[in-house]
Amino acid sequence: MFLSRNWMQVVLAWAVAAFATATVVVAVQNAKLEADLRDVQEKIDIYKELDVRPTLQRERREDNIDYRLPTALLPKHYELYWHPDLDTGTFTGQEKITIDVVEATNQIILHSYLLDVTNVYVLNREVVEYVLEVERQLLIITLTEDLVVGSSITLGILFNGNMTDKLVGLYSSTYKSEAGDQRNISSTQFEPVYARQAFPCFDEPAMKATFAITVVHPTGSYHAVSNMKLSESNYLGEYTEAIFESTVSMSTYLVCIIVSDFASKSTTVNANGIGEDFTMEAFATPHQLNKVDFALEFGAAVTEYYIQYYNVPYPLTKLDMAAIPDFSSNAMEHWGLVTYRETALLYDESYSSTLNKQSIAAVLAHEIAHQWFGNLVTMKWWNDIWLNEGFARYMQYKGVNAVYPDWGMLEQFQIIALHPVMVYDAKLSSHPIVQEVESPAEISAIFDTISYEKGGSVIRMLENLVGSEKFEEAVTNYLVKYQFENTVTDDFLSEVDLVTDFDVKLLMRTWTEQMGYPVLNVSRGDAGFLITQQRFLSNKASYEEAPEDSEFQYRWSVPITYTIDAWEDDKIESFVFAYNIDTEAIALDADVQWIKLNVHQLGYYRVNYEDSLWDALIKQLIAYPARFDVADRAHLLNDAFALADASQLSYKVPLEMTAYLGQERDFAPWYVAAEKLKALQRSLMFNEGYVSYLTYARTLVDSVYQEVGWSVDANNHLNNRLRVSILSAACSLGLPDCLDQAAQRFNTWLQNPTAANRPAPDLREIVYYYGMQQSTSNSDWDKLFELFMEETDASEKLKLMYGLAGVQDAQLLFNFLVLASDESIVRSQDYFTCVQNIASNPVGEPVVWDYYREQWPQLSARFGLTNRNFGRLIAQITKSFASQVKLEELQQFYAKYPESGAGANSRLEAVETIKYNIEWLKQNSGDISDWLSGTSVPLTKKNRL
Ligand SMILES: *[C@@H]1O[C@H](CO)[C@@H](O)[C@H](O)[C@H]1NC(C)=O
Ligand SMILES: *[C@@H]1O[C@H](CO)[C@@H](O)[C@H](O)[C@H]1NC(C)=O
Ligand SMILES: *[C@@H]1O[C@H](CO)[C@@H](O)[C@H](O)[C@H]1NC(C)=O
Ligand SMILES: [Zn+2]
Repeated sequence: MFLSRNWMQVVLAWAVAAFATATVVVAVQNAKLEADLRDVQEKIDIYKELDVRPTLQRERREDNIDYRLPTALLPKHYELYWHPDLDTGTFTGQEKITIDVVEATNQIILHSYLLDVTNVYVLNREVVEYVLEVERQLLIITLTEDLVVGSSITLGILFNGNMTDKLVGLYSSTYKSEAGDQRNISSTQFEPVYARQAFPCFDEPAMKATFAITVVHPTGSYHAVSNMKLSESNYLGEYTEAIFESTVSMSTYLVCIIVSDFASKSTTVNANGIGEDFTMEAFATPHQLNKVDFALEFGAAVTEYYIQYYNVPYPLTKLDMAAIPDFSSNAMEHWGLVTYRETALLYDESYSSTLNKQSIAAVLAHEIAHQWFGNLVTMKWWNDIWLNEGFARYMQYKGVNAVYPDWGMLEQFQIIALHPVMVYDAKLSSHPIVQEVESPAEISAIFDTISYEKGGSVIRMLENLVGSEKFEEAVTNYLVKYQFENTVTDDFLSEVDLVTDFDVKLLMRTWTEQMGYPVLNVSRGDAGFLITQQRFLSNKASYEEAPEDSEFQYRWSVPITYTIDAWEDDKIESFVFAYNIDTEAIALDADVQWIKLNVHQLGYYRVNYEDSLWDALIKQLIAYPARFDVADRAHLLNDAFALADASQLSYKVPLEMTAYLGQERDFAPWYVAAEKLKALQRSLMFNEGYVSYLTYARTLVDSVYQEVGWSVDANNHLNNRLRVSILSAACSLGLPDCLDQAAQRFNTWLQNPTAANRPAPDLREIVYYYGMQQSTSNSDWDKLFELFMEETDASEKLKLMYGLAGVQDAQLLFNFLVLASDESIVRSQDYFTCVQNIASNPVGEPVVWDYYREQWPQLSARFGLTNRNFGRLIAQITKSFASQVKLEELQQFYAKYPESGAGANSRLEAVETIKYNIEWLKQNSGDISDWLSGTSVPLTKKNRL
């Protein structure tokens, strides 16, 4: 069947024979195998057979494991041949790696994990043994003699592996066709440390090489795609070999193949003279092909924007995207073939909400930004992952903003990325942006909010400091200078340094090398204002525990911007408050009413003012809110609440500030307020002030609630976002009309679930959740569950899954939790979201907590301790605990199961959050009740303009 057309096919023929009887591989004395091997050697005249079987699992190395590959050898080129078997869920593969010898060594050390390596050859060399070392995930090949420096060797490896029940490496995914039968596909997810689960390789980002990939797929409706264009199809009867063009030099984590029966649509990306135009093709399961239109249109537009922005041609000849039914993250930026979760790519206006649409655009903009920043120029090692991810996180907002300027993305960065990470980063369990990582668990864990959101936030601050044009110029210079190479953070900053006239590197080190951020203290001085800085910690008690372990003593070089009441709206002054200076003074006339620092909240810090200045800011907000733009209003609300939460400001200040909300109609400030009102509700739930809090909070949202109403605007993006935010707060706070409206829509639709009765996509989560919350009938839940099971649209399914978690019956929630662990009910990729949904419901929280502890051995066996999403679960399900009893339960649990893998930080965070919650109630619940009992004025009506 196989012509000995090339090396690959010859070895495949050999492999097929060898696989036929399992013992054959080991037994070199087996005459047939020897004959086969001789045959192979004659034809290709290169391989020495190997007569030693791998020793599985060397003894575990104890301390100080060196996980890094030696640098004696550098891979240059891989010839890869994969045959995923979609029926059995296994694959066979083989490869030939060309390697340069940099230092003399008699060992070839590369990564391999969960692969059955069946044979190893080194061209013209004698192999003594090969060993698979499980702890470090290495394949160690020992040769009889040292390799010669400056020479080049060829390593051949045969291997096979399993694609079942996993979401990393080369894995199987399934979906139901329109006719209802199960279809299997296979796809890959290699970042950060999973390429080694699909082929033995030098799996470090700096070990760039070129890849010539061949994939075997069933002939017929199935096909294969990879990073590069197909160069040749080789028909072999039942199977076809798809042979792809060789890639450019790139990291192993960017390699991708997909074997599927997906359908596709395509469009052309117009390079506008910066390189050649090229094709963008979008793949999805055939019955969902109509859902790729939005992604194609937006994808091409944002790619065109990046080509202009980077001013560097797109380095490949095509850029595809594919929606994979099972996917561990949201998307992965494989060069030339970006893969997505279905919810992150597929858009259908009868299913997708305004937020779904925005998220799709944002994820696309993120992954496509990586095609240059990350793929063309890559970090040397994972400790600099923030540069990739922080940059892409920031660029995704710029990218979407370029295509949809009316979506307010630049302000949305503030509320979606900046505000949440500032909460995380105000804890002692946070970590610096640049952090040493070595083991696979550490590498997996660093893909966190610090790398993404804080990374993005400090890049945004830097851009604002140096100016966007100079910043863009530095980005272009950086990409050109280091293309196809690897860099460290300093290389990027050097380029920014070159276009500016101050010390960018020193300034940035204060942000990247120490965790946390400062709060600036602003007070009136003799001739203006005085500013000091201090690290911001959300728990007062943490100040005593905080280690003094930073070179910069937890002080930062802060880019300060400010404006005052007397200036024109757009006048801003700025300077840098250096980390090694105690106090800065701003000289201003004595009659200044208010000063506002951190204009538009472009800086990564908080600002506290003396009481009279807060008063003046609040007066201004109430008298004429538009004096501050949207970002500044969102900032004032966010800082005031955060400072009060940290007991650094009386709670009276943010509460009095809320008086202006009666006039507020913009999304970003309302989003801040609505999230805070919901959070306070949860915090105060078991406290005496709860009822008066609810009355007050309902009054606050009532008028804006009346105004946004329940009908969705076809084309007003930000108003749609505002509506959902307000409805969600109003229903959560129990505004009677909101609950009635939700229940009515829920019941009408559940009785008769036709398309016409279905609420608008924007309203569905609210209707499903609060409808379910108010239902007392088990059969309603069963019905909703049935609809969930039948649903095939991924984003609709998530909305229904959210609704199911809203029921107020612990028994039903427990059942749901048990059902959810069945992969045919809740896909593995959605499992953690489902558990979190249940845990966020106060009735479900104790149910999940018991279940999590009880099922820990099974859960850790299923997901593995290196799974970062699994690791994060502990902090998420305990985030509202606020008692000593719960704290002790947590500590007992840690004592019982000390191994936490990628969840190590999450465990620390959980403890710190509980301590903070306990302290918060002590410090603030009294003040809040006092303030509420002194306020009986219906604020919104009184203060409406
Ligand atoms: C899909 O994979 C499963 C699990 O490996 C297998 O049982 C089933 O037969 C496969 N279906 C097809 C159509 O190959
Ligand atoms: C592949 O993995 C699945 C799930 O762990 C297991 O059930 C199956 O037996 C494995 N197949 C092979 C051939 O090892
Ligand atoms: C901030 O300034 C006020 C004076 O307005 C002072 O009382 C307070 O101690 C300062 N706080 C810090 C942390 O410097
Ligand atoms: Zn990314």
